[in-house]
Amino acid sequence: MATAAPSPTTPATYTAVPLEGLAGREQVPFPLYLRTADNVWVLYRPSASVVDDGHIGRLVAEGVHNLYIRDVDRDAYFARVEKVIDRVLLDRSMPLERRADVLHGVAVRVADDVLAAMPDQAVLQRAQKVMMATSGLLLRESQGFRAVRRVMGASHGLATHSLGTSFLSLGLARALGADAGTLLQAGLAGLLHDVGKVGHEALDHDPEHAVRGAEYLRTLGLPAAIVEAARSHHERIDGSGYPGQLTGRRIPELAQIVGLCDQFEEIYSQQEPRVGVYDALRILAQLHRGAFAEPLAQAFVRLFR
Ligand SMILES: [Fe+2]
Ligand SMILES: [Fe+2]
Repeated sequence: MATAAPSPTTPATYTAVPLEGLAGREQVPFPLYLRTADNVWVLYRPSASVVDDGHIGRLVAEGVHNLYIRDVDRDAYFARVEKVIDRVLLDRSMPLERRADVLHGVAVRVADDVLAAMPDQAVLQRAQKVMMATSGLLLRESQGFRAVRRVMGASHGLATHSLGTSFLSLGLARALGADAGTLLQAGLAGLLHDVGKVGHEALDHDPEHAVRGAEYLRTLGLPAAIVEAARSHHERIDGSGYPGQLTGRRIPELAQIVGLCDQFEEIYSQQEPRVGVYDALRILAQLHRGAFAEPLAQAFVRLFR
């Protein structure tokens, strides 16, 4: 099976990747490695090889459940598996944490592209695919949210903030018993809630971004719930929010979900010095008492138990 050649002499670090998603008609644009029992990486296929189902079948028959890529090839790898991310996440031969790592790598690339400029239909379709795969994972795996949350770190910019808000919104919607369709909307709404900031990133205070974003999403034909979540994610049930100073149930539920997750993500990732999840929850409760509906806040806290 493997073409056992020594690993390259340049020092490299390697990442395990699931076998799922590697086979296909297109060449794999990076080398693949096997790890031996002695913790040595040997070349399995050089860059630009074609890997087919036969190769994968033989690896599985020999008890191999993942290959390794060099860390420098991670971006190329995530680009390749993006198209089949749903299948990768279904591959139970790989630990959930490792699949969540792959999901995170793919999702960061997509979030970067979604928010690099005002998104078009093509990039929205990519986002939709990632969110469908993520919601599928959360619906199937009882520890899905924990795994997804584990890979969320400090956000540094609009794309990572939006992705963090998206994953949290998916988790909260799931905890509230949302069906698959609503989960998908929660993920997309979280990812797109600040799209009105694109092109205005330099502004420190930009309250118009909510309306600007909503109007843009409406022109793209996105579902009303996603449009209204963008418009109303800064509304607070005590009327202290904007743009409409809406109160209570006049704020659409998805906007409340995204609004809470957005606020938490900001506290968790931007607090200096860094704080843990429980401190961030405490700060959220202290600074925003009365701003969020109690059942929502309680479900959110339970997510982290
Ligand atoms: Fe916002
Ligand atoms: Fe935000």
